[in-house]
Amino acid sequence: MPISTVLAAATAELTRAGVSSARVDAELLAAAVLGVPRGRLALSSGFDYIDKARFDEFVSRRAAREPVQYLTGSAPFRYLDLMVGPGVFVPRPETELLAEAGIRELRARGGGTLVDLCSGSGAVALAVAHEVPAARVLAVERSEASLDWLRANARRRAAAGDRPVEVVSGDVTDPDLLAELAATVDAVLCNPPYVPLGTPVPAEVAGHDPADAVFGGPDGLAVIRPVRERAAALLRPGGLLAVEHDESHADAVADLLATGGRFTEVTGHQDLTGRPRFVTALRAG
Ligand SMILES: C[S@@+](CC[C@H](N)C(=O)[O-])C[C@H]1O[C@@H](n2cnc3c(N)ncnc32)[C@H](O)[C@@H]1O
Repeated sequence: MPISTVLAAATAELTRAGVSSARVDAELLAAAVLGVPRGRLALSSGFDYIDKARFDEFVSRRAAREPVQYLTGSAPFRYLDLMVGPGVFVPRPETELLAEAGIRELRARGGGTLVDLCSGSGAVALAVAHEVPAARVLAVERSEASLDWLRANARRRAAAGDRPVEVVSGDVTDPDLLAELAATVDAVLCNPPYVPLGTPVPAEVAGHDPADAVFGGPDGLAVIRPVRERAAALLRPGGLLAVEHDESHADAVADLLATGGRFTEVTGHQDLTGRPRFVTALRAG
């Protein structure tokens, strides 16, 4: 069956279901079924009956708003492809700039120690380990399901030659978290759950991303507050903290960090779409 006909029908079905990226998603699903890069779909010989049955199932699940990354089993993040599926938060493009803040900091020092709090699939930690080979990187995560994905991704990156990321099963609200590293860490990065409870979210997020990866308590700051405490304890004087936040929270997060004298140079940053997305600060002292 010609690929162009199949893609046109799938795009129409996904559009009817309200999927905004219908054509791209149809192509990603077709590429996953055929085992070819998306850019080479036009050169493929098309679907046989078994491929077509698998593709139709993927399109139906996507029309029911299952994230396309859960269906293809992978999510791009900077230079990496991460394994993802049910139970783990799908890394988002906007977080790539948060990772970049840590990468720049460690590159400027020629290495150092970086802690990724709320690591999920390990996207941020593994990107740093890949791009700053001299860095020691620790990834902290609480959810058992996410830890399975994180460990699998960490094993795969280590097998590919990256310096192994140290996976820590831990809770960022625990005051004793990584106490042995107190005042020695060069950078703490965190993309926490930060959506205020009750905020309407897209069907993919509501139905599939784990709720405790998305919602950060009634005001969206329930995890960011303890993250500030952990970062203050872990960072050496001059060390960098970068925290992602809801686009409505730029001032609230900047105030949280500026209050109390433990952080200086509190600075807001936008994502690639121009929305306020993360705040950086340096540990005072
Ligand atoms: C928004 S996701 C970010 C995942 C990953 N850093 C990324 O950018 O793709 C937040 C993650 O924080 C984890 N998490 C939530 N509360 C936590 C806690 N108290 N301690 C450790 N991890 C937590 C969730 O399980 C989830 O994996």
